[in-house]
Amino acid sequence: MKKHFTQLKNHVRSFKDANNPLFRALYWTLKKPFEIKKLLTDGSHRSVVMTKLTAGQHAHQLVNYTTPHRYPAVFRACAEYFAAAQPLTLLSFGCSTGEEVFSLRTYFPHAELVGVDINRRNIRVAQASRQKDARMIFCTELPAQGQYDAIFCMAVLQRTENRLPDTTDSGQIYPFHRFDTQVTLLDERLRLGGLFVIDNADYRFEDASVAAKYLPIEHPPRKQRDRPIFDRNNQRSLVPYDNPRVFKKIAV
Ligand SMILES: C[S@@+](CC[C@H](N)C(=O)[O-])C[C@H]1O[C@@H](n2cnc3c(N)ncnc32)[C@H](O)[C@@H]1O
Repeated sequence: MKKHFTQLKNHVRSFKDANNPLFRALYWTLKKPFEIKKLLTDGSHRSVVMTKLTAGQHAHQLVNYTTPHRYPAVFRACAEYFAAAQPLTLLSFGCSTGEEVFSLRTYFPHAELVGVDINRRNIRVAQASRQKDARMIFCTELPAQGQYDAIFCMAVLQRTENRLPDTTDSGQIYPFHRFDTQVTLLDERLRLGGLFVIDNADYRFEDASVAAKYLPIEHPPRKQRDRPIFDRNNQRSLVPYDNPRVFKKIAV
């Protein structure tokens, strides 16, 4: 039954760009019932929609895709950087359902780990999967107090719509100042000598207002950005970007 439904759904999806206007009309007519069904049956999707409605200007990327051990080279490099320093407090900002934090635990067995995600359901799922780890907390807001030795901000400061080929100006979708304000707020919570770890962002960390306080760490290797990147004026940049992902804070 489910298989047939998926086949039907994919078939209807193919009508979206059909030459025949009748098929295109059929696509738009059927889209709404599919959306309603997804809203009713898929709790994860529903939580993303609810967060979109309630979070307003605070929301960055709300799609909550994540996977365990998504950034092994980056996490390994961070663990090597801190080898001698104990104890550590690490923040995963935009941790989704917690996999990033659970992965960090394998690299930092003794650290205090804080996972923050604006989506309440994500935090409930993370808390349920946490087991008995007393040095791991999950919350929907950045705790009011506390400094961190490393802040991980992975696949958060971006929007899916910015990947569409015809998006040349991100100003209406996710303007630079939203990225910059969040980076500045996180910078205030990072200790001198700490690491700002960022990947899959729509803007360059080097363009952020606080960037002069940081130096990129060359290990792990830079990553060639395979998605569009935008400049401080929200314009899609045509210059290829080798993306450093780990920055050391060298000034306050
Ligand atoms: C694509 S997921 C990234 C998950 C994980 N960091 C990774 O890279 O696998 C983006 C997450 O950022 C969260 N998010 C978006 N805006 C946020 C905000 N203002 N504060 C905290 N989390 C936020 C979303 O709810 C979502 O779970």
